[in-house]
Amino acid sequence: MIRAAILGTGFHVPEQIVTNQDMTKWMDTSDEWITQRSGIQERRWVTIGTDGKATETGAEMGAKAAAQAMAQAGVEPAEIDLVIYATLNPDCFFPGNGVFVEDLLGLKTAGAMDIRNQCSGFVYGLAAADGFIRAGTARTILVIGGEIQSTALNVTTEGREMAVLFGDGAGAVVVQAAEGQRGILASVLHSQGRFAKDLWLEAPTALVPERINADLIAAGRHYPTMDGKLVFKHATRRFCEAIKEVLEKGGATVDEVDLLVPHQANQRITEAVGKRMGLPADRVFSNIARYGNTTAATIPIALSEAAAAGRLKSGDLVVTVAFGSGFTWGANLIRW
Ligand code: ACO
Repeated sequence: MIRAAILGTGFHVPEQIVTNQDMTKWMDTSDEWITQRSGIQERRWVTIGTDGKATETGAEMGAKAAAQAMAQAGVEPAEIDLVIYATLNPDCFFPGNGVFVEDLLGLKTAGAMDIRNQCSGFVYGLAAADGFIRAGTARTILVIGGEIQSTALNVTTEGREMAVLFGDGAGAVVVQAAEGQRGILASVLHSQGRFAKDLWLEAPTALVPERINADLIAAGRHYPTMDGKLVFKHATRRFCEAIKEVLEKGGATVDEVDLLVPHQANQRITEAVGKRMGLPADRVFSNIARYGNTTAATIPIALSEAAAAGRLKSGDLVVTVAFGSGFTWGANLIRW
């Protein structure tokens, strides 16, 4: 049986650390409020240069993460058949970030595609990579999750509910066709579009001439918005459903899970999910305190840190699970 095995991981975050204390300079908030509600203590944001632009692009961050993953996997640029780049924040409206990575890493015309599935983008990306590998369409695939969130945020009291949660960064894995027990055993993917507008960014939009206008900006519709309590409620429920479903599909039980790597949305969501699933804290990965919610990047950054910390050993059973805008959600069951 051919499966998609993860051979290497890597991540890159911007140098600039933005603490909760920094947030209090721009909005009415406190370290206590943010820590208690989300578990976040600091996040990384790109630096804005003297030309008014970020000093690194999203694709550059993704390429740095991917280069680490390739070095760890011992894979050369010419071996990569496909780049799958999950992001809700492409550097431009089109093309997607995947093609910029093809160029930055000299990938010799490897295929490139972007996945626009927000917080669950990386889980969708791994499922897609597994499908391509099992079908024989590709042998070696880079799956990247990367975001520059900070430039989209309303960093005033009006936007505080969103602004304090998000960070920038990128993570990547190399997946390659492998025989045997190792690899992605099962994936489950879901969506429920009736909640699309409960966590979304309306503009720029193809529905208005020039994509953006003064009215949209004056109404703040170029900032992401969410119904936080609704998202929290659905996230907790869907995370647990997806974990159970993927375990059942892969013929495993929760007792066999060595490490749950959930999308880092909120420490309270992570703890609630761990508790409902009966998993002790040492089998649930968390790094949200240092990076905040980096959307599609949280899981590959977490996999990378978990591997570096020796928490992912060969043969371990790992579940990745995510929920986010769309609503979309899903999970992967992986034999490390
Ligand atoms: N600092 C201080 N006060 C704040 C802030 C802030 N940054 N943000 C909101 N508030 C205020 C609100 O205005 C509100 O004030 P009011 O009561 O006077 O109206 C009050 O705090 C709300 O407080 P709580 O009810 O205690 O907030 P809650 O427990 O709902 O926590 C939170 C809010 C953290 C946003 C929570 O709903 C949440 O985490 N939701 C999930 C959101 C999420 O994860 N989104 C990410 C994208 S999707 C994903 O990744 C799954």
